[in-house]
Amino acid sequence: MSQSIVQIEALTKIYEGKNRVVAVESLDLELHEGEIFGLLGPHGAGKTTTIGGATTRILPTSGVVRINGVDVVKQPDVARKSIGVVPQFNTLDRSLTLFENLYYHCRYFAMSHRDSKARSLELLEQFLLTERQSAYPAQLSGGLAQRLQIARAIAHRPRVLLLDEPSAGLDPQSRLAMWGIVEELHKEGITVLLTTHYMEEADALSDRLAIIDHGRVLALGSPEKLKSIFGVHSVFVLRLYKQDGIEDAAAWLRKQEGVESADPYEDGIRVVATRAEGLLPLIVEATKAQGLRDIKIQEASLETVFIHLTGRDLRE
Ligand SMILES: Nc1ncnc2c1ncn2[C@@H]1O[C@H](COP(=O)(O)OP(=O)(O)OP(=O)(O)O)[C@@H](O)[C@H]1O
Ligand SMILES: [Mg+2]
Repeated sequence: MSQSIVQIEALTKIYEGKNRVVAVESLDLELHEGEIFGLLGPHGAGKTTTIGGATTRILPTSGVVRINGVDVVKQPDVARKSIGVVPQFNTLDRSLTLFENLYYHCRYFAMSHRDSKARSLELLEQFLLTERQSAYPAQLSGGLAQRLQIARAIAHRPRVLLLDEPSAGLDPQSRLAMWGIVEELHKEGITVLLTTHYMEEADALSDRLAIIDHGRVLALGSPEKLKSIFGVHSVFVLRLYKQDGIEDAAAWLRKQEGVESADPYEDGIRVVATRAEGLLPLIVEATKAQGLRDIKIQEASLETVFIHLTGRDLRE
């Protein structure tokens, strides 16, 4: 049985103000040592707030986060030694070279001049940045800047690495390279908590993941388990020529066996189904009056699971 290294217990964060926002609500999560855990959710789901609660950047309204046995609110300085953080937005120091960004991070974590220098050079090598060590962050592509942020995050050898949307804004090639880096670090034994709204990323990287929305966990498990337990087979996205009468057609579809839900969506209807066979004739029948322009079928994926759970897709 693997050891638990991160415990998030009943974490709640409420932003008071004119528009009171419950960003995270009674959230429970436990990370096992050495796993990659994904937090998958749409914009505003509470991913950054959850990460902030773990990194001590955000003071929770209630609840506890323990990392490596340390309560992060009670002993932030001790907790910080166990965590490496790559925030959602670039926080490299623009006035320092790549080498210096790493070096001063090490110094901040009380490493000697000698050790800091050696560790920085080692990281530049490991992350293939040695040739650029005298460059400044502004001279880097998004992919290289992200690589440097990850190198910096692990410079003090934390046991847990927190990555908040590590591939947001990266081109596909840099994204794949970033996945490779995370998998390498994982092999070396680090525990990773990563947030994303890309379901392919959660699927590819996570040993386990939680789907969150409105600050709550909707489902938790391995990607395979999530895809199987919800029994969602397919999602049909229909586009129709005529928009009137869509609600009636959706209502009729909802009554058919194997249809979990059918709702107006863009210029048609979205049907979430637990079976694919035999549904097409029913869909054609239901949409006779509106005229079926086009139909797209999505097979079971984390995205169809998400749609099933929330009635929305991750991009909405
Ligand atoms: N400082 C703040 N003051 C008020 N509301 C906030 C603050 N920070 C976040 N929120 C709100 O809390 C909710 C959760 O935000 P959070 O940034 O955690 O979401 P997220 O899942 O990281 O979203 P994104 O994918 O856009 O990064 C949102 O409704 C957001 O508007
Ligand atoms: Mg965020």
